[in-house]
Amino acid sequence: MSLLAIIGGSGFAGIPALSVLDARQVDTPYGETSAPVTRGRFGGNEVLFLPRHGPSHHLPPHRINYRANLWALRACGARRVIALAAVGGITARFCPTALAVPDQIIDYTYGREHTIYDGAAGGVEHIDLTAPYCEELRLAVMAACDRMGHSVIRQGTYGATQGPRLETAAEIGRYERDGCDMVGMTGMPEASLARELDLCYASFAFVVNWAAGKSDGIIDMREIETNLARCVERVEAVLMSLASD
Ligand code: HPA
Repeated sequence: MSLLAIIGGSGFAGIPALSVLDARQVDTPYGETSAPVTRGRFGGNEVLFLPRHGPSHHLPPHRINYRANLWALRACGARRVIALAAVGGITARFCPTALAVPDQIIDYTYGREHTIYDGAAGGVEHIDLTAPYCEELRLAVMAACDRMGHSVIRQGTYGATQGPRLETAAEIGRYERDGCDMVGMTGMPEASLARELDLCYASFAFVVNWAAGKSDGIIDMREIETNLARCVERVEAVLMSLASD
């Protein structure tokens, strides 16, 4: 099976069950990665791990060097990348603590370095993004959820927003009319860069709050942290099963 890389998001600056072999700062044509790429044993196999917000969660979503991160994972041998994503739930099924494997994306981000085809030598390739995630890895994540007995929503549209602020209720209303089921800040350009770099990339999302306007009152960070803590154990168990597959 090809080498799996895990990109950690909120709540996953590390993976406690990962037994670290080494951590390597990789030189990339795009500058520095969020953190050194960690190689370790997990679920009986070797995996790579990279926390996208950095080891101490210091990088906001719009400052993450997505190009460097994905390039470095590929250079370290990864061919499959599972990206963890804390999201806000928009449609009814995407309630706090639900797990989901999105199958579509709408990109609302701006001003991010979003392509490796930036006009330098090497030309341009217009990659196909009809299905933005790698179906083989999506199925593998869902099979791991089934093995672990954790229910998972098998499709849904991820709306990628700029952040770091949360959305207005009207923005969430618009995203819902557009067809979004969940909202997060880091899904793009990560997914499209992965496709440009020919990586098999999927997202494993966990809902940590109702998106703006979808519950009474404002979004409470303590509630987000509580829901996040409720997801961590299941997410880790699924990842371990995925890694051992
Ligand atoms: N909006 C955007 N990103 C998020 C949210 C949200 O409500 N929750 C977690 N990530």
